[in-house]
Amino acid sequence: MSEPRKTVLLGVTGGVAAYKSCEIVRGLQKRGYRVKVVMTENGTRFVDPVTFRALTREPVATKLFDGPADPIHHISLAEECALFLIAPCTANVMAKMACGIADDLLTTTALATTAPLLVAPAMNVHMYEAAATQENMATLRRRGVGFVEPDEGYLACGDTGRGRLAEVEAIVDAACAMLEGTPPADLAGRHVLVTAGPTVEPIDAVRFLSNRSSGKMGYAVAQAALDRGARVTLVSGPVALMPPTGATVVSVGTAREMLEAAAAAFADADIAVLTAAVADMRPLNAVDRKLKKGRDGEALRSLELVENPDILATLAQAKREGQVVVGFAAETEDVLANAREKLVRKGADLIVANDVSCGAVFGADDDEAWLVSADDAVAWPKMSKRALAERILDAARDL
Ligand code: CTP
Repeated sequence: MSEPRKTVLLGVTGGVAAYKSCEIVRGLQKRGYRVKVVMTENGTRFVDPVTFRALTREPVATKLFDGPADPIHHISLAEECALFLIAPCTANVMAKMACGIADDLLTTTALATTAPLLVAPAMNVHMYEAAATQENMATLRRRGVGFVEPDEGYLACGDTGRGRLAEVEAIVDAACAMLEGTPPADLAGRHVLVTAGPTVEPIDAVRFLSNRSSGKMGYAVAQAALDRGARVTLVSGPVALMPPTGATVVSVGTAREMLEAAAAAFADADIAVLTAAVADMRPLNAVDRKLKKGRDGEALRSLELVENPDILATLAQAKREGQVVVGFAAETEDVLANAREKLVRKGADLIVANDVSCGAVFGADDDEAWLVSADDAVAWPKMSKRALAERILDAARDL
């Protein structure tokens, strides 16, 4: 029987960033949580509760005496949640929380709950920097309230500075980390190598061959390994992701550069998770000037390609006792048979196989995969890339 889903209570206060709370609801739901929303009166001026009601399929609580059937609404809300996340949180609501003021449903619930509290402030830069706000945040921090710090940038009021609500993904990540607790440091002392993203194979000074890999899977593995205490080397092709803090990141372009960096790190690695979408081929005669359609039309029309080295196969061949190499396979047919064949041909210990017959997994936040080893194949249900990363690391650790 599956475990009941944990409930996140999302508090929405009166700030322009309230519209981003809709995305936070979706992000938490995608990670498998039930979300209920409580709003301040001012919050409802920015986003209508109907929107949250439609997104969550739950009643949206706004008033202390909302439901005659539930006269102590704040207590039931406070008790049923595993986490109370307030995003966006205004300076005013933080001030009330710091003083223990409970004059509406949201602040009363914040006072009544014994669940962990996570606050994502959003406000004008001067309000954020005001001594009162900073002291209130320090007070809340001392009491164990978690914060997702606002970002710097252009603010709705026209000012520039710190105060913009943190990225939705950062808020959802922080919420999940609080909900799931501190992961075990079971990879402490281990070195995990991860390849991620696409490779880029130059044709000339301005053109290249590449693919749509987002790098999300590899970055999730790197982050999960870091969180579990490992030393991490992340060899990454060009992607639009923030590198995880604490990893040694080696940025590469071509497959040959990726091989060189990965082989160097593999020498003392314990686990290699090779998620990169390496370009199978590269132009044989890349030139360092721009090819012209007229003069070089023939060269452009008949690009001659040559095969790139296989990083997975090369590392697997150099494997020492105790090293584990994990590869990926994207298949549209005979998923298991092809994944098994790939495992043997490349010498990998494990292959994570995705069925991409219903569309690409590139850029998606969730994956459904098989884990194929020499003598087994296990189907994993659809889950977030982070959850998949944890399972991959579990399997590599236990091999
Ligand atoms: N890989 C690699 N070096 C390459 C090509 C692939 O390290 N030159 C790794 C990838 O990082 C991934 C796995 O091998 O872990 C994918 O193998 P690949 O043969 O590319 O499989 P598919 O992408 O599924 O493509 P195909 O079925 O066409 O072989």
